[in-house]
Amino acid sequence: MAASAVIAGLGAWLPPSVVTNGDLCSRLDTTEEWIESRTGIRERREVSDGAATVDLAVKAGERALKSAGLRSVDAVVLATTSPDRTCPAGAPEVASRLGVGAVAAFDLTSACSGFVYGLATCAGLIAADVAETVLFIGAEAFSTFVNPEDRATAPIFGDGAGAVVLRRGSPDEPGAIGPFDLGSDGENADLLAVAAGGSRQRASTRLGNDDVPTEDWYLSMAGRAIFQHALARMTASANTVLDRAGWAVADVDRFVGHQANIRILTSVAQRLGIAQDRVPANIDRVGNTLAASIPLVLAESCANGHLRPGDRVLMTAFGAGLSWGSTVLVWPDVVTTSPF
Ligand code: COA
Repeated sequence: MAASAVIAGLGAWLPPSVVTNGDLCSRLDTTEEWIESRTGIRERREVSDGAATVDLAVKAGERALKSAGLRSVDAVVLATTSPDRTCPAGAPEVASRLGVGAVAAFDLTSACSGFVYGLATCAGLIAADVAETVLFIGAEAFSTFVNPEDRATAPIFGDGAGAVVLRRGSPDEPGAIGPFDLGSDGENADLLAVAAGGSRQRASTRLGNDDVPTEDWYLSMAGRAIFQHALARMTASANTVLDRAGWAVADVDRFVGHQANIRILTSVAQRLGIAQDRVPANIDRVGNTLAASIPLVLAESCANGHLRPGDRVLMTAFGAGLSWGSTVLVWPDVVTTSPF
């Protein structure tokens, strides 16, 4: 039987700067009531003082290593769609700053599905004997990719980081992750995209392309269409992974879904038949933090006792790509601090 990846540590971190709906109303044509009723978001965190994604990743990574009682790991993987730079990846810098040694380190880009895609990737590293232990971090300073003047996107996204330490273990022990369901739909890639900055559209006088419109540097989002895709894909993916795991819906103690919009989370839970008191949410205080979203919920729930050893957990994410994914695990006995 192949080795499984088992959660051995958990940590999350939020930058201290809080942006309330009231703050947004002072610069955008919107209301606190509109934002809260349509999204469930009351405030979000934002990087300040020049901080960027790697800074958040290091903080969450430190906490996860402490939670696991480890000083080193065999690999560091960073899921982010708001990298400090387009080159190089941020993970090697994270590994250096954490002092874990000259280990394997790379980034993974899968937007809001990044945490579930990353868990599958890290489980693969362990199953393939590449690593015994992996520090896997989802970190985002995505506020820097959002147009502060755009009332359709500025209220939704926030910054933060969450991390797990994974170790080699057996599939039947608490904390063992899997099976997985992963999927994508590139035909709808344009529904949620940042047009410029990559190889297709760079800004450079030398390349004869110095007139990239400002909005192309920022996220564009077809909100209503994304909403519908999220409902359909998250529900289907969750059902698929439950089938693969041999779990009934009634077996699920906690449904930890990507925090994109409280109405999406509530509707997906309803469609699955999972009671709302089994659906932890922090979107009211952090907004959509992409790859950091699920581990931020895990860390808060674990720290405040809403997630207990032995709980059967279903995790489902959806995001740009389009991409989606789900996995399950029985919650292990780990100790962490709340990111709040
Ligand atoms: N304040 C006030 N009005 C706003 C607004 C804001 N912040 N943002 C948009 N509006 C307006 C629109 O301009 C539109 O006006 P119009 O009818 O005159 O054209 C109206 O509100 C409705 O816009 P629409 O986008 O259809 O609203 P919605 O009910 O779908 O809610 C979202 C918008 C973005 C909250 C919702 O579509 C959503 O959450 N989508 C998913 C986003 C998401 O999850 N993205 C990440 C995926 S991982």
